[in-house]
Amino acid sequence: MKKTKILALVGKGGVGKTSICSAFVRILSEKCPQARILAIDADPAVGLATALGVEVRETLDDLRLEIIEKAAQGAGKEAIELLGEVRYRIFDALIEKDGFSFLAIGRPEGAGCYCAVNAYLKEVIEMISKDFDYVVIDGEAGIEQVNRRVMEQVTHLFFITDGSKKGMQVIRSIKQVADELVTYEKCGVIINRVDDPELFSDLEIPDMDVLSVIESDGAHAKNDILGKTIFELPADAPVLRGSAKALEQML
Ligand SMILES: Nc1ncnc2c1ncn2[C@@H]1O[C@H](COP(=O)(O)OP(=O)(O)O)[C@@H](O)[C@H]1O
Ligand SMILES: [Mg+2]
Repeated sequence: MKKTKILALVGKGGVGKTSICSAFVRILSEKCPQARILAIDADPAVGLATALGVEVRETLDDLRLEIIEKAAQGAGKEAIELLGEVRYRIFDALIEKDGFSFLAIGRPEGAGCYCAVNAYLKEVIEMISKDFDYVVIDGEAGIEQVNRRVMEQVTHLFFITDGSKKGMQVIRSIKQVADELVTYEKCGVIINRVDDPELFSDLEIPDMDVLSVIESDGAHAKNDILGKTIFELPADAPVLRGSAKALEQML
């Protein structure tokens, strides 16, 4: 069996991770209709579900709480039995759509710290990724999930930035941490939502490949405002074309 490709998108908040992640899911599901694809919304701020037209019933955090409760009650079960159940319950929590499955980590109550659910996410990725050909992860903004080794299994790391200095700095620092903690096979940069792509045409980022430069996409922005899904965007929209170009180079 071919090894699962685990793609993750990381970068500053608001640079287009969710937009490009949903584009990846659409492109992969259209290009490889036979492939088993899992989309994971790993950002507690959510958004991927809406972009993909998924209605979330149960999140990984709901599951975590359920398991903790069961373990606390004892429920007459051995820990090992509970573990088997977890695997089964995770598949149960996946939402099946036309062409892909979906899982959201959810928004833990009590705010502040997402470490508990992030630790779960890491285990879940390890546990279920082999049942898929592609796992596409919409990462939380910033560096935490790389830092906490949630991204340890990732094979293809996409650094998303806008044209700003700050966005570039964030991907640089995430790359530094990723180089220490993640054994990814390939990585590359997507520069998104730029008004003048010419300005970036020969931009070099030391030690990183620019996979594509995506111009400002009015149709996509409007889609988002109206709450429409990525599947409703015309195929020639810049977000879809630019994402396809980046995917082609990485896969
Ligand atoms: N290429 C683009 N052109 C125009 N608007 C974009 C583009 N990419 C993303 N956006 C818009 O920018 C906002 C943030 O994008 P989003 O994908 O949610 O970023 P992130 O997930 O990194 O926070 C959204 O309103 C989205 O519609
Ligand atoms: Mg997002």
